[in-house]
Amino acid sequence: MNDGRQTIDYGPRRKVLVLHDAEALAQAAAALVAETTIDAVALRGRSTIALSGGSTPKRMGELLAEAPFRDRLPWDRLHFFWGDERWVPLDDPESNAGTAKRTFLDHVPLPPNNVHPFPTHLSSAHAAAVAYQDEIASTLSGGGGTPPRFELILLGMGDDGHTASLFPGTDALHERESFAVANPVPKLGTTRLTLTLPILNAGRTVAVLVGGAGKAEILAAVLDGPEHPDDLPVQSIRPIDGALRWLVDRAAAKLLAAARPADG
Ligand code: 6PG
Repeated sequence: MNDGRQTIDYGPRRKVLVLHDAEALAQAAAALVAETTIDAVALRGRSTIALSGGSTPKRMGELLAEAPFRDRLPWDRLHFFWGDERWVPLDDPESNAGTAKRTFLDHVPLPPNNVHPFPTHLSSAHAAAVAYQDEIASTLSGGGGTPPRFELILLGMGDDGHTASLFPGTDALHERESFAVANPVPKLGTTRLTLTLPILNAGRTVAVLVGGAGKAEILAAVLDGPEHPDDLPVQSIRPIDGALRWLVDRAAAKLLAAARPADG
């Protein structure tokens, strides 16, 4: 396929797919969702997907709700969760789950019980995190003690190197027992809900979607620079027995050492 894409190999299980632009990035992300879920359903009868928040996955969601993806996905065998959430009601424009529902999940033949948002209607962010951990454990297989395994985890990356709501210098970065926690984020002046590294790194396929020139500097620091996971939390995303895929557009990749020149 000569659509201008480039694959950069960063070693075991870490491949960076550079797509031409934001639309190609969204198309590749939608194709990854389709590919991993169809495989999972064939092998294990269903698929469990943790979606990221933020703006990058919006176009991917729109593509999943229209042909050909809408007709290809076995929606009744899919379960959707979120890697993180803001401490807001579902109908708040800031809600990651609310945005995904409004963008695509409410427009595809997905059984309502297969959509698992963080329960942000509960009395506290901590209670919501505890309840979410229970919902994950009861929905996913994983066995006692070992983190349940999502078939696919989609993540974004902020311009400070955060992923999910694992922000630099925050407590959740060091959580190794709970799968879901309430994470105070002083720089935002709020508490976020987030999955933690044990369950994120248990994913069978973990894909980080990064687009736009504004992410070029941080992406080069994360991929080409030294390891400083406390300062660059996304560097801690290293699936233990799964595949890590970076899907980035050329604008975000322009400072990567191995990226083709822009006119290439
Ligand atoms: C959130 C996210 C967060 C997001 C990154 C990238 O709730 O905001 O889950 O981790 O993925 O901040 O956001 P953009 O895609 O908007 O750049």
